[in-house]
Amino acid sequence: MDVSLQISIGKLILKNPVTVASGTFGYGEEYAEYFDISELGAVTIKSLTLKPRLGNVPPRIVETPAGMLNAIGLQNVGIETYLKYKLPFLREKKCTIIANIYGTSIEEYVQLAEQLEKEGGADAIEMNLSCPNVHDAKSKFKCPLIAQSPEWVEKYTYAVRSITKLPLIVKLSPNVADITEPALSAEKGGADAVSIINTLLGMAIDVNTRKPKLRNVVGGLSGPAIRPVALKMVWDVSRTVKIPVIGMGGICSASDALEFLIAGARMIAVGSYLFRDPLVPMRIIQGLRDYCLTHNIDDINKLVGSVIVE
Ligand SMILES: Cc1cc2nc3c(=O)[nH]c(=O)nc-3n(C[C@H](O)[C@H](O)[C@H](O)COP(=O)(O)O)c2cc1C
Repeated sequence: MDVSLQISIGKLILKNPVTVASGTFGYGEEYAEYFDISELGAVTIKSLTLKPRLGNVPPRIVETPAGMLNAIGLQNVGIETYLKYKLPFLREKKCTIIANIYGTSIEEYVQLAEQLEKEGGADAIEMNLSCPNVHDAKSKFKCPLIAQSPEWVEKYTYAVRSITKLPLIVKLSPNVADITEPALSAEKGGADAVSIINTLLGMAIDVNTRKPKLRNVVGGLSGPAIRPVALKMVWDVSRTVKIPVIGMGGICSASDALEFLIAGARMIAVGSYLFRDPLVPMRIIQGLRDYCLTHNIDDINKLVGSVIVE
């Protein structure tokens, strides 16, 4: 039996439903030493900003039970350097590219998306409306994430939707009471898919020094510790919106990936676990194929949302 792993996000057809989570794969160069990165359904690159960013002051990574906290703060090369020095490598490898973007205003998101489309820098755009690490946690002024306001999500999505024909993905935050609300707003604003989830806000303290372990005080929790939370959010969102859901959060194996697909995700991303096993995306692709063969499933799309709730 032939098994098709092909899925689509908007008008973009992907050879399989496996990508990597933004910020955990850089621009692919290091991982290309371990495997053929063009085998991925898509490479999702680190969030790009208009200007290069150094990110937050270290320490900005802490290991936690079954996961990690990070407060990298969007360190990235900036769009110019990406287009000039990183993109040619990904194009030469024939990768499908999801370019994740971050702006501090609607105008910045629009500018990033316009430039990416004009210069062929992406096959799809993922708007990061949910980075928890770009605000000063010590400040009394609490700056909300765009993804925490359904109204803003719709506005930001609509603005970028209006200027690009590229498939548009909106990445949402789990740090909300009900993630289906911003997901519906993204759909209303014209998104082709939503990514669920970014990291959960967290904190760790060194009891000997009584100082937070992260210099930024708080950070984003990721890895297996968040998997059940992410899975539940994917299930909730996929029953609410009609557009595809890209599921992520603690995926470490084909079995984890299958849970997300069965819950309703059309595509999945592997993030933190790449730091332990860079080959995990290849194992997942093979594992999905094996599962389909064993269960007589000729098309992976048939699995999506097939959870049986009695
Ligand atoms: C070190 C690190 C850096 C990250 N940087 C970004 C980023 O730049 N943009 C973004 O949208 N998400 C970023 N994320 C969030 C991941 O893309 C992903 O949504 C989250 O980690 C959950 O997946 P995981 O548990 O498999 O890591 C980052 C996560 C980690 C661990």
